[in-house]
Order: sequence, then C-alpha cells, then structure tokens
Amino acid sequence: MNTLTGRDPIPPTIAWVDDHVELIDQRRLPEDLQIIAVHTVDELCHLIRTLAVRGAPAIGVAGAMGVALAWCRGESIDVAAAKLIATRPTAVNLAWGVERARRADDPVAAAVKLAADDVARNRALGAAGAPLLGAGVRVLTHCNAGALACVGYGTAIGVIRAAHEQGRCPSVWVDETRPILQGARLTAWELQRLGIPATIITDGAAAATMAGGQVDAVVVGADRVAANGDVANKIGTYSLAIAAHHHRVPFYVAAPSPTLDSATPSGGQIEVEMRDAREVMELGGVRIAPDGAAAANPAFDITPRALITAYITEHGVFDEPADAFGAAAEVEDA
Ligand code: MRU
Repeated sequence: MNTLTGRDPIPPTIAWVDDHVELIDQRRLPEDLQIIAVHTVDELCHLIRTLAVRGAPAIGVAGAMGVALAWCRGESIDVAAAKLIATRPTAVNLAWGVERARRADDPVAAAVKLAADDVARNRALGAAGAPLLGAGVRVLTHCNAGALACVGYGTAIGVIRAAHEQGRCPSVWVDETRPILQGARLTAWELQRLGIPATIITDGAAAATMAGGQVDAVVVGADRVAANGDVANKIGTYSLAIAAHHHRVPFYVAAPSPTLDSATPSGGQIEVEMRDAREVMELGGVRIAPDGAAAANPAFDITPRALITAYITEHGVFDEPADAFGAAAEVEDA
C-alpha cells in the first residue's frame, strides 16, 4: 500500500484515504519508507502506542481519524475516543484531536480538515520563527519535531526549514535522543531530504558542544505547554534547557496552538508517560544491559518556564506564555 502523495520531499505522515487511514510506519525509518493502511481503531491504538505514528500534532490528527474510523464502521464513538486518548497521556493534542472529531457532525470531514490545518499552521509557525535565526546559524534540536511529528512541514524543524527556504543557511546539531533515537533516525532523515546540513551528536554531547561555542540557538517542539509556560517535551529537553541557560544560548519552544493547554496550570500537573524499561535496556532489539538490571523510562520531562527564551506559535513569537495563550484564544473566539 503506497498511496500517500505530495510534492514535499517528505510525504504526509498520515492521511484519510477512501474509508481508512494511511500512515508512514516511523518504526521502520530511516531504512524503509513504508506506508501502512489502518482499518480499525484497535489497530490504530496499537500503532500510536508503539510509535509507528508519533509526535504531538501527528497523534492529534491520528486521534481524530480514529474517531472517524469508528464512525464509518458504525462503532461507538465514545468507546473509540476513550481507547484512543488512553494510548499516550502527555501530548495534549491527542485528546484535542479526538474531541474535535467527536463533536463534529461528520468526523471524517473534521479529521481531514485537522490534517490540512496542521500543515498550514506549521508553515505559519515556521515563517514566524525563522527571523530568530540569523545567517549561518547553528541550531541544536532534540527528538523529532519535524514533518514526521506532524502531518507535514514540522514545528521546530519547520522554523529551521523556513530559515533554510529564506536562504539563511542554517546547520543543525541533532541530538540522537535516547532511547528511541527519534533524532538520529527521523530528524537526520528529514534534514537530509531537505538538503539542510546536519550533524548527529549523542545527547550527552550537547552541553560540551555549547561550551565550545558551536551552538547559536536551541529550538525544540512540545507535547504540552501548561498555562504558566512550563513545557513537556521529549526526555532530555530539560537538561538541554539547563545547559543552554548556563551557556547563554537562546532556548526556543515551537508549539502550535493545539499544544497550548490552558486547563493545566503548571508542569507539575502534566502526566509524564512511563514507557517499557526494555526500550532503555535494548538498542535496536539487542540487549545492552546485564540480565536482572532495572531501568526507568520516563518518555518526557518538564522544562520550567524560567529556562525558555520565547514561544513560537503560528501567531508569532512570544516572550511571555500568557501572550501566546492570548493570541491563540483570540483566534479561537473569532
Ligand atoms: O515520543 P514521541 O516521539 O512522540 O515524542 C515527540 C516529541 O517529544 C516531540 O518533540 C513533540 O511531540 C513535538 S512534535 C512537533
């Protein structure tokens, strides 16, 4: 099955095709660009849980499409919604997408619209953030907040991509992002396809790279921004923010409006997903830890507002989180 198309060097991550969902199986990248067809809510839940489709905006759209699948099959939308929301707790986009489709008269049309909106929003976000990056800027990013984490274009990588399109010639330090290696596998793949120079480093090398004066800015994505500006993102983001603060490197969070969660007062109330310890004790399916070893695997961490220089949304660049929330609410109310 390979029906996803597009002129973009990176095909859409997820799409509604006829009566089902098609998505890129990100577990197989970078070796294999394979698209799988999904016909049931249970299959989709499994694919979200196992990170075949991942990244906050992408799972938001996947959630909406899951509701659409249930609707098309005459199944209970409430049961489907509960199953989908339970797959991953940290990214607020998932429940947002599910609820949007659930409230719609036609969940398929709603899900298809959310997918189109995602790309438009990310392009606007990229255009808003690009002027923060000067000519020849050396940007460090973590995990994958690119086209693959969305339907298309990307958020943090969208900013870098827009700077590249404007001829600012950015280059990128790519944190490998233990334990699933979204940086080394996915971000490096995307940047290669886009023709943006990139160098993969281990997560532990980020602070030393900053100390060496080789990083001009850090741009990361977000799974949830709390009302006070605290940010949940891939584990390792917090230590990166501490290192950036120490080295006076600006630390930007790129987050489209659906990632802003005014209902959660601060980072302390965000549920951090705990994943299987085997992801830490194995590398590419090969065990690297001794038998009997214990491991903990929090998938996200919380970066406090104080360490964040600015928030980039589709509405602009905001030093204060309240202004980012205000701009999003204005558009929502209009
Ligand atoms: O566990 P993942 O791969 O879904 O984590 C993804 C991230 O942490 C991204 O940085 C975040 O979702 C923002 S994507 C635009």
